[in-house]
Amino acid sequence: MKNITLSNGYKMPEIGFGVFQTESGEVTENAVIEALKAGYRHIDTAMIYGNEESVGVGMRKSGISREEIFLTTKLWNEDIRNGNARRAFEDSLKRLGTDYVDLYLLHWPANGYVEAWKILEELYNEGKIKSIGLSNFHKHHIDDIYEICTVKPMVNQIESNPYFANDELIAYCKSENIAVQVWSPLGGNGTQILSDPVLNEIAKKYNKCVAQIIIKWHLQRDVIVLPKSSNQNRIRMNFDVYDFELTKEDFDIICSLNKNKRSGADPDNFNF
Ligand code: A2P
Repeated sequence: MKNITLSNGYKMPEIGFGVFQTESGEVTENAVIEALKAGYRHIDTAMIYGNEESVGVGMRKSGISREEIFLTTKLWNEDIRNGNARRAFEDSLKRLGTDYVDLYLLHWPANGYVEAWKILEELYNEGKIKSIGLSNFHKHHIDDIYEICTVKPMVNQIESNPYFANDELIAYCKSENIAVQVWSPLGGNGTQILSDPVLNEIAKKYNKCVAQIIIKWHLQRDVIVLPKSSNQNRIRMNFDVYDFELTKEDFDIICSLNKNKRSGADPDNFNF
């Protein structure tokens, strides 16, 4: 598994295990244990997922040491709006049962994100967070952060999948040395993408499943991919992508499937 070096020199595994909508309690605990057994060393949660505590339990039960795991959580919108970043961060740490996180993100550009960024910088400078970043930020939101920041964001976590490539924003982030993580890389729950005939043809050719093909496509675009699953086989399959490479031709065919169609909210127009 490859690591990506962030702009501050800190390293992040290029495949992270996502737990959005994974039920708290045993389901999340077991999913995290399975993921760590399968070789993942990067877990992505958020306060609003309601499963930080279970992520922490799963990490401890796995027997893998804390230092070997890259752990991300996120500051929720209400806490951004209320200027509550420091307190919310401390609460996340308590739930996770750890004394630092590897990455802390502003979850959405909710009103107050510029002020919240200043608090993230303070926490970063105090060493409680190893790297700080954004999630669901358009270029103009990032530019607002640039106007005030003393520490540049190291990451932007955004939506991307073969039907919503999000290439322009990815290119902008890369040009700014902001690492891009992609959420719902397979198109999200109930995704149509997995039954796409073109992707199924390609999958057959490589003797892989469509999810593996999509994950590989993301990796070959040099983005960090955060697939999620609560199924042991699928957790394993989604990490088993290191024994093949997509040819340029197949890579380009997948790029041509882009419909510019989001499955989630537009960061310029969200109501949560
Ligand atoms: P499940 O937990 O039942 O495996 P995304 O990561 O794009 O948000 O979407 C993940 C969705 O796709 C989840 O609902 C997950 O459901 C399902 N999924 C994850 N990995 C695979 C896979 N390898 N094959 C088929 N479905 C998958």
